[in-house]
Amino acid sequence: MSVIAVGSAKASPGVTSLSVGLGLSWEATTGRRAVLVEADGDGGVLAARFGLALTPSLVELSGTARHELTINRLQANSQLLAGQLPALVAPGCGETAALVLGPMAGRLVHGLGRLDDIDAVVDVGRVRSHSPAAELVKYCDLLVLVARPRFDHLVPLVHQARRVVAHDIPTALVCVGDRPYPPTEMAKASHLDLLGVMAHEPRLVQALGGGLPANRRHRRLLLWRTLAELVHRIHYRLQTPTAGHAAA
Ligand SMILES: Nc1ncnc2c1ncn2[C@@H]1O[C@H](COP(=O)(O)OP(=O)(O)OP(=O)(O)O)[C@@H](O)[C@H]1O
Ligand SMILES: [Mg+2]
Repeated sequence: MSVIAVGSAKASPGVTSLSVGLGLSWEATTGRRAVLVEADGDGGVLAARFGLALTPSLVELSGTARHELTINRLQANSQLLAGQLPALVAPGCGETAALVLGPMAGRLVHGLGRLDDIDAVVDVGRVRSHSPAAELVKYCDLLVLVARPRFDHLVPLVHQARRVVAHDIPTALVCVGDRPYPPTEMAKASHLDLLGVMAHEPRLVQALGGGLPANRRHRRLLLWRTLAELVHRIHYRLQTPTAGHAAA
């Protein structure tokens, strides 16, 4: 299966929200199941934000780290977000999250990659060379860097893009909103492919918390259309890798 890492270079552009949205939209667009993994070394917010329990979490999964990651182990340690999406949540405390994630990140990405019929959307938080999730970024099939189209996001994005591309990590850009800079300019400056622009949705958390609407008419709302389009482009890109180790 594919591992899609979603992260940022700086600030809080909307990585977690996009990860949840992609995860919720994944199966309806690709026909393949998805699991959402919160691998943010600064600590998780999924449990608090979407009314999930504090356990099971990465902590419990790390207890089984000596064993191979099977679909059963993954499911046993996941919770259903919005009643739809299996989510492996990170502990809210950053120090605990970093402590469990660091030693297991490598095994997690390879274990996820070996599971059949299910793709993983992994929220890796801030992408840094010494982040506890660094191995997840290094061996993912695609890194989606998220940024707001603003000057203060541009400079760190350009630096981070240069670094990950130099490490041969297949990477693409998603902008959240389209102002004040055109997202195409952000892509040009960072030399990244622009996968798309995430709609600016003020009631985003509430909308995501309700899950993917069952009603097809509601799925035509801008948010869900944008997410379906992004999933489609990511899926296409995974099948036709153009750069990085996925092309090997
Ligand atoms: N597409 C969007 N439209 C409107 N608001 C958004 C959007 N995406 C994220 N937000 C808002 O921005 C804030 C940060 O979002 P989120 O937690 O997803 O970002 P993040 O990049 O994961 O942050 P962090 O680096 O702290 O983990 C939240 O208040 C969220 O509701
Ligand atoms: Mg986040």
